[in-house]
Amino acid sequence: MNLELSPKEFALFKNLIYQEFGIALSERKKTLVQTRLRKWVQSLGLPNYEALYKHVEQNPHELVLLADAITTNVTSFFREESQWLFLEKHIPKTYSKTKRLRIWSSACSSGQEPYTIAMFLQEILPDAHTWDIKILATDLSYDILKKAQQGHYRAKDLEGMPKKLMNKYFSKTPDGLYAISKQLKEMIVFRSFNLVTGNYKLFSRPFDCIFCRNVMIYFDKPTQEKVIDNLVNLISPKGLLLIGHSESITRHDARISSVSPSIYEKRGA
Ligand SMILES: C[S@@+](CC[C@H](N)C(=O)[O-])C[C@H]1O[C@@H](n2cnc3c(N)ncnc32)[C@H](O)[C@@H]1O
Repeated sequence: MNLELSPKEFALFKNLIYQEFGIALSERKKTLVQTRLRKWVQSLGLPNYEALYKHVEQNPHELVLLADAITTNVTSFFREESQWLFLEKHIPKTYSKTKRLRIWSSACSSGQEPYTIAMFLQEILPDAHTWDIKILATDLSYDILKKAQQGHYRAKDLEGMPKKLMNKYFSKTPDGLYAISKQLKEMIVFRSFNLVTGNYKLFSRPFDCIFCRNVMIYFDKPTQEKVIDNLVNLISPKGLLLIGHSESITRHDARISSVSPSIYEKRGA
């Protein structure tokens, strides 16, 4: 079946996606949206994309499926190496006295980011078992959160990971995948949260480190600024905001200063 997404249908989805997720789709994304939505239209036995739009309108709980259909979840373990080198010094220096850390991986995708955080902390803090560490991992997409929670990865996903870490933190499953250790899983809580429409008041305590990497690329400038503002509100003094290398914070915010490429520190106490 040749299902062409008409300009009117594209405009309908474009507006809905912007409204619900703050994701600004350019005209260039039309083919991608069409490819992603076509399977959904067909699986529901609908005649066209307009019918799918009506279906989503009448079943708002299915909006999350729309998010799954249009977002990209590319991620990897130990992504953005220079940030880990920075954290290796910053964390022991800043938190060794209190031994308390609250970290948020705010667009965690299939889990490689929060599991890297957990693994990394176990490696750099010889007495990690005596620290009070909690990692919150959130994403918009339910599908991807399920994968993250399961924590099973293909050999390909672990490419480049030192053997020592593989042996220590992964075990082989009967179907040839690599399962994350219980020890790392226990350090993380997974939840769904939409960075654009979510209620930031739900977070009663600030974080020492917020990872918001490779997700702002989806947002237009006003949305990026709103998200950054909400995140900075939630960072403790001397705490960090980490963004992706291809992202930037364009609006000056006197509460944070750049301390390394793609790393911002909150001023204060
Ligand atoms: C490219 S992945 C980045 C994963 C990881 N942070 C990294 O840097 O490797 C982007 C993730 O952002 C999520 N995402 C997109 N829009 C979002 C939103 N409004 N709120 C929360 N997560 C969102 C997607 O579901 C996807 O898993």
